[in-house]
Amino acid sequence: MGTSQKETTEENGKAVVSIPKTSDVASTSVQRSLQEQLLNTHLRAQHDETKKTYAFWETQPVAQFTEDTSTSQTLQEGPIDAPKTIADVRQEPYNLPAGFEWSTCDVNDEKTVAEVYQLLTMNYVEDDDNMFRFKYSQQFLKWALQPPGWQEDWVLGVRVSASGKLVAFITGVPAKMRACEATVSMVEINFLCVHKKLRQKRLAPVLIKEITRRVNLRGIWQAAYTAGVVLPKPVATAQYWHRSLNPKKLISVGFSRLAPRMTLARTLKLYKLPEQTQTPGLRPLKAEDAPQVAELLRVYLAKFQLAPEFTEEEIRHYLVPQDGVIDAYVVADEGGKLTDLMSYYTLPSTIIGNAQYDTLKAAFMYYTVAAKTPLLQLMQDLLVLAHQKGHDVFNALDIFENEKFLKELKFGIGDGRLRYYLYNWRLKEELKAAQIGLVLL
Ligand SMILES: CC(C)(COP(=O)(O)OP(=O)(O)OC[C@H]1O[C@@H](n2cnc3c(N)ncnc32)[C@H](O)[C@@H]1OP(=O)(O)O)[C@@H](O)C(=O)NCCC(=O)NCCS
Repeated sequence: MGTSQKETTEENGKAVVSIPKTSDVASTSVQRSLQEQLLNTHLRAQHDETKKTYAFWETQPVAQFTEDTSTSQTLQEGPIDAPKTIADVRQEPYNLPAGFEWSTCDVNDEKTVAEVYQLLTMNYVEDDDNMFRFKYSQQFLKWALQPPGWQEDWVLGVRVSASGKLVAFITGVPAKMRACEATVSMVEINFLCVHKKLRQKRLAPVLIKEITRRVNLRGIWQAAYTAGVVLPKPVATAQYWHRSLNPKKLISVGFSRLAPRMTLARTLKLYKLPEQTQTPGLRPLKAEDAPQVAELLRVYLAKFQLAPEFTEEEIRHYLVPQDGVIDAYVVADEGGKLTDLMSYYTLPSTIIGNAQYDTLKAAFMYYTVAAKTPLLQLMQDLLVLAHQKGHDVFNALDIFENEKFLKELKFGIGDGRLRYYLYNWRLKEELKAAQIGLVLL
């Protein structure tokens, strides 16, 4: 998972790029040169975030920045590595530096899940200004790491041999993924974390190689993952947007700022939501809904170029509500037929060093299908429900068809970008955020 996190404003200058409209430009040659300048600025900005060399990632079967994508005949869509069999996979675990050892983490064991929670709570993803850090709950970790087909040895830790202290972590869960035309058995890699005191010692590449080996040993050769950082080479770049539900708290903890010429009272009025939802037939999703929800998702996700293919069993796992972890709702018509789906997961952040508040309660948009009810109405209802449950902010990416409601429902653009990556799978071209139909937790 990549950086989240807070709203950006005109004052901090991260979000605003003003592009002249065609009518503002006198001649076509001037227009062209301006466009070139803008393009160059855009490329430079991207280049600044892109390092010159990637000692590890350049050795891996991932698309590289140095590839010439204009000659698409040579770069076929599909696996990057030559096909392998399980017999080709290295049998022994990769070596760790002296004094460290591999540890498969059983998250059903209360002590172990508490250790993982502690490692992530203190060392996982922070925003660029180190004001907020993701705080996945233990219940969330159990849910995210044990979908149908989960493998115990894909929940991988590194411990200090002498003390047993857990100091690094990485996980994989299985998923059927459609990438453009192909449907591929993949893993979703998540929760890569190295203790702050052990950073920059090249432990991350060892974790990535070891989880890859363990996944390969089960005949899976591809992975999907997301990160805030630029690595070779994003399949797509998405942008976080945030909808204030509790503006007073968000302003007080520095998540958002009072806009120029706005008072707190006017801000509270601006973000005020109705007390009740408006869609008739809206109710929490139940396990029995899985077959109909599977069909809604199958039809909807077919519109996107990168999207999971969920089984009914996976839908029961990922979408049946669990308090403080996942909330999902469906709309049933008078005959009981399900017409729409909406969901969000709960991922709080620690507010670092704030005397008044220690936790930011955030809802993150998950899978939503507006097959009958207008998307705008459905999302407004989802905001109402998230607000009722005490969330401070509702986060969404500009993936799916989200551009259709983000501005209208008063989401503000964030300072976090999320890059999508595929391991050992090449696409012909980079995708737009709106072609992505995948949410990684
Ligand atoms: C991400 C993290 C594990 C990297 O560890 P580190 O100690 O900073 O870096 P290491 O020296 O071990 O490894 C560096 C290599 O990892 C790569 N790397 C850094 N972040 C990465 C990420 N999120 N995903 C994959 N590779 C990553 C670097 O690009 C570098 O490879 P390169 O030489 O090819 O460029 C660590 O910074 C961390 O725990 N951060 C907080 C949590 C976090 O951001 N997790 C990732 C969520 S996507």
